[in-house]
Amino acid sequence: MRITIDEVEIPASGSSAVFDAVQEVANTLEAEIWSTDDFAMTSAMTLPEYRDQRFQRRVLLAAAIDGRVVGRGWLGYGTEADAVTASLDVGVLPEARRRGIGTALLLELERRALAAGRPTVTAFTQHAVDDIPADEPLLGASVGERAIPANAAASRFMLDRGYALAQVERTNRCDLASMLGELPDIVATSTARAGHLYRLVHWVDRTPDELLGSLATAREHMATDIPAADLELDPEVWTPERVRAREAQLAASGDHAIVVAAVHRDSGAVAGYSELVLGEGKEHAEQWDTLVLADHRGHGLGLWMKAANLLALADQAPERSRIYTWNADENEHMLAINDRLGFRIIGYSGEWQRRLPRSD
Ligand SMILES: CC(C)(COP(=O)(O)OP(=O)(O)OC[C@H]1O[C@@H](n2cnc3c(N)ncnc32)[C@H](O)[C@@H]1OP(=O)(O)O)[C@@H](O)C(=O)NCCC(=O)NCCS
Repeated sequence: MRITIDEVEIPASGSSAVFDAVQEVANTLEAEIWSTDDFAMTSAMTLPEYRDQRFQRRVLLAAAIDGRVVGRGWLGYGTEADAVTASLDVGVLPEARRRGIGTALLLELERRALAAGRPTVTAFTQHAVDDIPADEPLLGASVGERAIPANAAASRFMLDRGYALAQVERTNRCDLASMLGELPDIVATSTARAGHLYRLVHWVDRTPDELLGSLATAREHMATDIPAADLELDPEVWTPERVRAREAQLAASGDHAIVVAAVHRDSGAVAGYSELVLGEGKEHAEQWDTLVLADHRGHGLGLWMKAANLLALADQAPERSRIYTWNADENEHMLAINDRLGFRIIGYSGEWQRRLPRSD
């Protein structure tokens, strides 16, 4: 039995057999956790993330036994010169576990993070609520009330590799049909409350030119003005060019983004934004960023934007019946909004961090 760990070369066009095999492994692992194909991706959906490396570097590794791909790992980090963090993920097919393959992948990714000057590495583990045994010991972060199973293979793996649980996130799902009737009222109440100060602007995929600069600023705040518990986060630099690059990347993946911004009437600037991302061929949508800038909080903009955007989704893509979203367990305000919008917990993710010792 020969175990190999190799970097996957990213094909300039089309896909490759090894990239497809790695994607297949990733899909098997997601389905193992969530018992659904909702999170399965094709290579065509994933490849654009690897092709444009101007703002985010991304490295992909394949682990194989006698040439058959049984595991994969990726490392990602911002290209900002002063950044110190990197994110990574490793996964091994069930039949190939406990042979040191996960550790070999992790060590190689950690080595590369250090070499890139990113000594603080973050990894995540996912846990469906239905799979958490009642008598299982739990592990929580320093804030928040929810916890993940301490003895799950993924938790043991992280702990044994020296990672600390820095934050717990909730994975939530909303079945849109059950909420649709309530959304117009929520939007009307929100408009009455804040409509004299803000107006909502909707778009699909392409940010209007006049909002590009202030949306870029808002995206910078999205990197740091969020509850982070014990996670160390890097600031991100967002320029209009980077916003356009991200739009191009989503388009290349076949995704669509339905976006709403709350625009401050006096300044004409984005005070907050919220985006739903629609993967190609899927029956669900994913609620990604929602942010209200600090100066504009306390006007109910979060609930207003989200409710309005769900209505836009129901109008433009009525076949998308379920929405997923991910929130920090200690993010009380956002959790209250999501609760109001009918989101329910289906699982947790553990966000783990480790500061790597220098090799010299
Ligand atoms: C976590 C995962 C990557 C481990 O892969 P693996 O190839 O089995 O890992 P290794 O063989 O290198 O195991 C390393 C150590 O982790 C711990 N570990 C792994 N699985 C474990 C389990 N089921 N129970 C207890 N400890 C476990 C052990 O300490 C193990 O060392 P040992 O076998 O000498 O006791 C794999 O279970 C997996 O793919 N899970 C789903 C994806 C995921 O959660 N990834 C983690 C996020 S980075």
